[in-house]
Amino acid sequence: MGILISYEIMRRRKIKGKEIVKKKIIFSIVGARPHFVKAAPFLEEMEYSTYQVFTIHTGQHYDKNMSDIFFKELNLPKPDINLGIGSGTHAFQTSAVMQKVEELIFEYKPEAVVVYGDTNTTLGGALASSKLYVPTIHIEAGVRCFNQKYPEEINRKIIDHVSNFLICPSKIAVDNLKKEGLTNGVEFIGDFMYDSFLKAQKISDLCKFDLKKYGVKQDEFILSTMHREKTTNSPKILNEILCSIGNLPITTLLPMHPRTMASLQNSGYSIKNFKNLKIINPVSYLEMMSLLKNCKLVMTDSGGLEKEAYWQGKPCITLMEETTWIETIDAGWNVLVGLNIIKIEKAISNFVKKDLEEIGARPAYYGSAGAAKRFVKYMGWT
Ligand code: UD1
Repeated sequence: MGILISYEIMRRRKIKGKEIVKKKIIFSIVGARPHFVKAAPFLEEMEYSTYQVFTIHTGQHYDKNMSDIFFKELNLPKPDINLGIGSGTHAFQTSAVMQKVEELIFEYKPEAVVVYGDTNTTLGGALASSKLYVPTIHIEAGVRCFNQKYPEEINRKIIDHVSNFLICPSKIAVDNLKKEGLTNGVEFIGDFMYDSFLKAQKISDLCKFDLKKYGVKQDEFILSTMHREKTTNSPKILNEILCSIGNLPITTLLPMHPRTMASLQNSGYSIKNFKNLKIINPVSYLEMMSLLKNCKLVMTDSGGLEKEAYWQGKPCITLMEETTWIETIDAGWNVLVGLNIIKIEKAISNFVKKDLEEIGARPAYYGSAGAAKRFVKYMGWT
């Protein structure tokens, strides 16, 4: 594990010709795709702060199209260190992150540690820092789906109960924490992903991704992702779902997560035999946002994409029995179908027929733009 830049260089940074002396260090721990999207607006806000953000990439996601491309597109500074932890069991990933982050805390003595979301990277980082009494800040706190069969739900609960500052994306998240007895350090700030989403709206238009390369037409395809452990642990059902959506009259475009690909291939299922289903490699953030803008509807088990569909005004079919983003269901823009083929087909047919105006309003449940700015001000890091 090598430190990439020296401490002195790190403390003195020239930003747009101006030398800024960074007096204190804050760790920002990322490792998987959703973290990069949440961290981007925070890092941008911190550019002129006298606090130096030291980015630790755990390496939980390591493929170029799962990591590097996100840094490039989101204009994120290169991580100060990459721990190279990679794939493995839950215990392996979590404990490896803990051990390595602990070493870095001893070395750099950060003022605070910021973690994002609900992954094993988040859990390992939060446990390491809170056990060393370093103020631990959880971005996207209070989010619950109330089903511990999702490993992320276990992570969310533990992270919130060991963190000192619980930065909530919604009012429901604040209420969830209250029900668990957590009120100290709880703040409704809004969703950091919304800032990245708004930025991507502007840039993805300029990038002009060509739908033709995927053989899909504007407003005539379903954009789908599937990667949850609960989904990939059932390759037989997953294969049946793919066969079924592959036979629908509307095309589905599915950028496939490596976990999903591996699950199907390891069980001997071919991924080539689906008629109206186009399976492609994972796409970059901007390309995803562009596909989202152009699709008819979304079908996913990704929490992030559920919210992005809501912001974009695209109906969403969620392939889970629970969601952390219950507000999108209440507003009528999202429907829970689990891995049930009949429910999936019914939901697709309902949404395809519907006029979007019939669905109704999309209240700003996840706050207004500028969550990262409000957060930095709240922490006094300006
Ligand atoms: C993780 C998070 C999940 C988040 C998701 C975003 C946990 C428990 N889960 O799930 O909350 O929504 O990231 O994608 O932390 N793999 C590659 N290349 C990569 C990354 C992963 O091939 O760059 C494959 C490996 O086979 C790996 C598998 O995907 O074993 C699963 O990766 P992992 O990081 O364990 O979990 P995700 O499914 O990505």
